[in-house]
Amino acid sequence: MGQKNITWHQGHISKSDRQKLNNKIKSAVLWFTGLSGSGKSTIAVEIEKELYHAGILSYRLDGDNIRHGLNRDLGFTPQERTENIRRIGEVSKLFVDAGILTLASFISPYRKDREMVRNLLDKGEFVEVYVKCDLSECEKRDPKGLYKKARNGEIKSFTGIHSPYEEPISPEIIVETDKQTLQESVNQILNYLIKNKYM
Ligand code: PPS
Repeated sequence: MGQKNITWHQGHISKSDRQKLNNKIKSAVLWFTGLSGSGKSTIAVEIEKELYHAGILSYRLDGDNIRHGLNRDLGFTPQERTENIRRIGEVSKLFVDAGILTLASFISPYRKDREMVRNLLDKGEFVEVYVKCDLSECEKRDPKGLYKKARNGEIKSFTGIHSPYEEPISPEIIVETDKQTLQESVNQILNYLIKNKYM
């Protein structure tokens, strides 16, 4: 599949050389997974801000944004969601290789797809953050009015309504946004990064 006559071109500067330039962090991807409205993007935005003020470069990849550009050709069938996550996994790997802490927020409802991304990366480079929130609470928040549309039949295959969400079995971090404040979730994640020597 498209790999014939293609050779990898090795550079002189390695990932660890680049990480030394961004010397306050070991690059990795924080992979936020959870239902629509669970708070994935809200937490990622807050973490990016805190890291920035601590002089640490990070970069956010977000479902809604990526689907405006790179993945604008993809919808929400199981196959398209898998392809969405595969591409994001590859992009995340490039960012990690560039020495940047990457904050990826995607529903990523299928375990096998998240495992595929984990396997693309080196050990310790994939930090799965389960943004746990009861469906009823997500539906109550309904920040974009999408649950309402899904219940009215205006959106087909909406995650949690007509399409499955497979909970992570052993994520590195679980934040419970229907029980914790935003700041508590953010602190929990930053503490994990400190304790595990990412920064
Ligand atoms: S996935 O499942 O990982 O491929 O989805 P993702 O790329 O994260 O995109 C999710 C955002 O798309 C909007 N949206 C839908 N979500 C779920 N199911 C359906 N059918 C759907 N249609 C549109 C929605 O705004 C999601 O954003 P978040 O931030 O998760 O609410």
